[in-house]
Amino acid sequence: MNHLSLRTRVIAVGNQKGGVGKTTNTVHIARALAERGRTVLIIDLDMNHCATRHFGVEPEAFLGSYEMLVGNEEAANLVLTHDDEEVSLPERLHLIPAARKLEGIDQALAQKSKFISPREVLRAPLASLRGRYDYIFLDTAPNATIPTIAAYLAADYFILSAMPDPFAIAGLNDALTDIRDAQQRGNPGLVLLGVVLSGVDKRTALAHSLSEFVESAFRMGDAAGSMKFHTSIGRSTVIPQTQKAGKTLFETHSTHKVTQEYRTLAGEIEERLAGLESDENELRVAHG
Ligand SMILES: Nc1ncnc2c1ncn2[C@@H]1O[C@H](COP(=O)(O)OP(=O)(O)OP(=O)(O)O)[C@@H](O)[C@H]1O
Ligand SMILES: [Mg+2]
Repeated sequence: MNHLSLRTRVIAVGNQKGGVGKTTNTVHIARALAERGRTVLIIDLDMNHCATRHFGVEPEAFLGSYEMLVGNEEAANLVLTHDDEEVSLPERLHLIPAARKLEGIDQALAQKSKFISPREVLRAPLASLRGRYDYIFLDTAPNATIPTIAAYLAADYFILSAMPDPFAIAGLNDALTDIRDAQQRGNPGLVLLGVVLSGVDKRTALAHSLSEFVESAFRMGDAAGSMKFHTSIGRSTVIPQTQKAGKTLFETHSTHKVTQEYRTLAGEIEERLAGLESDENELRVAHG
C-alpha cells in the first residue's frame, strides 16, 4: 500500500431490514472490483461478523472494527490482507474484521465521553485510510447501533440492498427515510448510488413483478432511468454453500451465473460512479 493518492469512495451497504443480502452483496461487489484491479477494503461493522466469516476469518482472532471505533488502534494497523499468512484473503481485497464485542460499543464509547457523536467515530479512521484504496465498503447491521449510524453519516455513497419479498419491498420506504435523515442530519453529501435486488428467483412471476415494481418506484423521473441497478442477482444455493466454506463465489464458483452477475454489477457500479463524478467535474469547471 504505497500509493497514497487514489480517489477513495466510501460506500455503505445497508437496509434497516435484516437478511436482505447486505453482507453477501458487500463481499461479492468488493471481490468483483478487486478482480477488476481495484484496491478495496471492507470494514465489517456488524457484531454478527458475517462479512468477516465470509472470508474464513475467525472473528475473535484479530483486533478489528471495535478497536478502530473506540479509537484504541490506528485503522491501518487493523487491516488484514492477502499477505497475512493466517488468513486467505484474495489479492487487493483487505478486511477490517468485526467481533462479537461490537455489541458493547455504545457503552464503551459512552464511558469514554458523554459527548462522542456517532459521526466522529468513523471520521478519523476513514480520513486516515483515504487515498490508499479505490473503494472502502462499510457492511452495516440491521439495527441502529452506533456503527450503523456512523456508516450512514460518514459514507460518500449508499448502496441499498433489497430482496424481492413483499415485506422487504414494503420496507424500502423506511430505508429511503433513513438515507434522507442521514443527509439532513449531518451527511448532506451522501449519494444513493443504487438499489441492488438480489436473491431473485428469475423463473417466477412474483420475482418479475416485484423487480418491475422496484424499477419504477426508483425511477428518477427523467431519462436517467431507475436507481435500481439493471443487473440483479439471482437466487442460488451456491451462495450459502460458499459462505459456509468461508470463501466467495469467485474462489469456489468462478464461472457460475451468479458470479458473472456480480461481475456485471461491479461494471455497472463503476459506470454509474464515472457518470456521477464527471458531472461533478463539469459543475466544478462551470463554477470556477
Ligand atoms: N443470491 C442469493 N441466493 C440465495 N441465497 C442468498 C442470496 N443472497 C443472500 N442469500 C442468503 O440470504 C441470507 C441473508 O443474506 P445476507 O447475510 O447477505 O443478508 P444481510 O442483509 O447482510 O443480513 P443481516 O441483516 O443479518 O446482516 C443468507 O443466509 C444468505 O446466504
Ligand atoms: Mg449482514
